[in-house]
Amino acid sequence: MNRLDNKVAFLSGAARGIGGAAAKAIAEAGAKVVIGDVLDAVGAQTAKDIGALYVHLDVTQEASWAAAMDATVKAHGRLDVLVNNAGIFNGKGVEDATLDEWHRLVAVNLTGVVLGTRAALPHLKKSKGNIVNLASVAGLVGSQLDPLYSLTKGGVTTFTKSTALEFGRKGYGVRVNSIHPGVIDTDMGQQTFAMRAQQLGSNDTEATRKTSTTMHPIGRLGLAEDIAKGIVFLASDDASFMTGAGLVVDGGYTAQ
Ligand SMILES: NC(=O)c1ccc[n+]([C@@H]2O[C@H](COP(=O)([O-])OP(=O)(O)OC[C@H]3O[C@@H](n4cnc5c(N)ncnc54)[C@H](O)[C@@H]3O)[C@@H](O)[C@H]2O)c1
Repeated sequence: MNRLDNKVAFLSGAARGIGGAAAKAIAEAGAKVVIGDVLDAVGAQTAKDIGALYVHLDVTQEASWAAAMDATVKAHGRLDVLVNNAGIFNGKGVEDATLDEWHRLVAVNLTGVVLGTRAALPHLKKSKGNIVNLASVAGLVGSQLDPLYSLTKGGVTTFTKSTALEFGRKGYGVRVNSIHPGVIDTDMGQQTFAMRAQQLGSNDTEATRKTSTTMHPIGRLGLAEDIAKGIVFLASDDASFMTGAGLVVDGGYTAQ
């Protein structure tokens, strides 16, 4: 089950966090893994730890994606799985975020996914591969903390469905699915606790961490490994009848 033997996977933003855990899980499932990130020192170490290749990738730049795909195919001859994982969070209200902050969110969370999809597609068409996009519960229901982030993740949710339909209609044999984490205890998770505290005029991140925890009926926050398992499943042939779907891994957050 959930094996990826003889497959080649590329993950954006996988120097740490969910992407880092997914890269490890994908490697353990038998695939050759390539990690792309802007955090070069951290990314190179993560790659070394799991026997992966690291390449510098800024997901907002088309030329950077072209170079990353070239390096992947040069090293491993093919590409079977793209995980569009790189993402940023802002944590400010509609009235407080600057236009530059909005443009940055769009560049990483939306343009990054579009460019990644376009760059990987010629290779995925050859391998009949698949794409896993990191959306969020914030792409399914409203976000109390960050309406602008939520807008970008809603875009990832429907882009996933629309590209699944387009690639199906064109007979590419390329599946596209999204995964929707609840609050996950990563650097970004920490950032959400800090922003929630700031919005309350406090810096008690332990209190806001507890508040976030209570929003998950299962009684705990998510771990990067919880999401990595879902990514491996979607990327594997066990999900071969899934396309245009969203896998919700949120401890019950959106069941309420
Ligand atoms: N942590 C959560 O609670 C949570 C919840 C739902 C969805 N997500 C989504 O999961 C994904 C991973 O989040 P995480 O929690 O691991 O965050 P993280 O901040 O720990 O890791 C994000 C990674 O993306 C990289 N990145 C940022 N900008 C980049 C760029 N321009 N080019 C290449 N890489 C870039 C960062 O360097 C970092 O390694 C994101 O898309 C995020 O929106 C996270």
